[in-house]
Amino acid sequence: MLKNLQPQTQAIRIQTPRTWQMEHSTPLFLTSSFTFEEADEMRAAFADENDDNIYSRFSNPNVDEFVQKMCALEGAEAGFATATGMAAVFSSIFGLLKQGDHLLCCSSVFRSTFTLVTKYLPRFGIDCSLVSASDKNAWENAIKPNTKMIFLETPTNPQLEIIDLEWAGELAAKHKLILNVDNCFATPLLQKPIKYGAHLVDHSATKWIDGQGRVLGGVIVGNADLVKEIYLFCRNTGPSISPFNAWILSKSLETLDVRMQRHCENAMKVAETLQMHKKLSWVKYPFLETHPQYKIAKRQMSAGGGIVCFEIKGGLENGKTFLNSLQLLSMTANLGDTRSIASHPASTTHSRLSEEERLAVINIL
Ligand SMILES: Cc1ncc(COP(=O)(O)O)c(C=O)c1O
Repeated sequence: MLKNLQPQTQAIRIQTPRTWQMEHSTPLFLTSSFTFEEADEMRAAFADENDDNIYSRFSNPNVDEFVQKMCALEGAEAGFATATGMAAVFSSIFGLLKQGDHLLCCSSVFRSTFTLVTKYLPRFGIDCSLVSASDKNAWENAIKPNTKMIFLETPTNPQLEIIDLEWAGELAAKHKLILNVDNCFATPLLQKPIKYGAHLVDHSATKWIDGQGRVLGGVIVGNADLVKEIYLFCRNTGPSISPFNAWILSKSLETLDVRMQRHCENAMKVAETLQMHKKLSWVKYPFLETHPQYKIAKRQMSAGGGIVCFEIKGGLENGKTFLNSLQLLSMTANLGDTRSIASHPASTTHSRLSEEERLAVINIL
C-alpha cells in the first residue's frame, strides 16, 4: 500500500512495525546489540540468511526507517546511513574504489570533500582529477582507462554552480562509470539525481534534512549492488549513524517537504531583493535569471533551494562590517537550520585551503 503513495507521504508513513505498546510514533531503539532465542537463529543472522538485526553498527530499526524514507524520496533501491555527511561521501568513494583506480571530481565540491579527494585518496593509491563544473569538454578529456567514478555536487557549496545532471548521467553511461552525486543542497524534494542516471546519491543529513541544527548525520542511497558493497565496507570500518540521530532525522523527514517549500520561497524573495541593492557587486541564486546555469537549474530542480550567495562591494572589510552588523541572522557555518544564518566561506570554512585551491573550489577570495 505504501509503495503507491507519493514519496512525500511515504516519508511520513514509513514506520518501524508497531510494538505491543501500540505506539503512534516510532520509539527509540537505543540498543547496541540484538538478542536471539535460538542458536540457529543467531547463526542464520550472521550468515545473512535473514534480515535480523545483530548489532547497531550493522543495522538498527531507527536507522532502517530513516534509510527507507530516504530511498522512497530519492527513488533508490537501497541505502546506508552514516554518522555525518562526510562519512557518507568518504564511504561512497572508499567503499568502492581501490588502489590504481581513478576518480573524476568536480573542482568546486564542498571543502572537506575537496581535501578528502586531493589529500587522502592519493595516499591509498587512488588518483583523482579535478574538473571545472562549467567546462563540459574537460570532463570527457579527463576520463582515463582506469576511471571508475564521477563525483559531483549540484548546486555546489558555496558557489551554487549547477551541473547538468542529464549530461552527467549520459557521460557516466557512455564510459560505464559510477555517477556519485552529493545532493545535500537540493534535497530529494527539489532534485532527484537517480532519475538522470546517478548510481549513488549522498547527503549530509545534518543540513536541510535535520533542519533544526540538532544532530549530525549522513546517508548514501542508490543501486542495491553498490550499496551492498558500501554497507560491507561500513560494517567493518564503523562510520554508522547512532540510532538516536537516525530517530531524529526520520522524524525530520516528515516535514522536509513543507520546510523546503518555505525555505525556497523565502530565499527567492531575499535573492530578488538583494539583486537591487547598490552595495552588492553580484547576487547568485539558481532560480534568478542572471544565474549562469539558470536554464539547467530550472530543468532539473523544482525550486532554487535555501542558499543565496552575494558579494559586498568594498572587499573583506565591508564584508566584516556586514557580518558584525547582523541583528537577527546567526553568524555560524551550519546551513539548513530554521534560523537563517550568514557566513563568509573564504575566511571560515575555506580558510585552510591555499589561495590557488580556494580559487578552484569557490572562485571567490
Ligand atoms: C555539500 C555538502 N556535502 C557534505 C557536507 C558534510 O556534511 P557533514 O558536516 O554532515 O559531515 C556538507 C557540509 O556542509 C555539505 O555542504
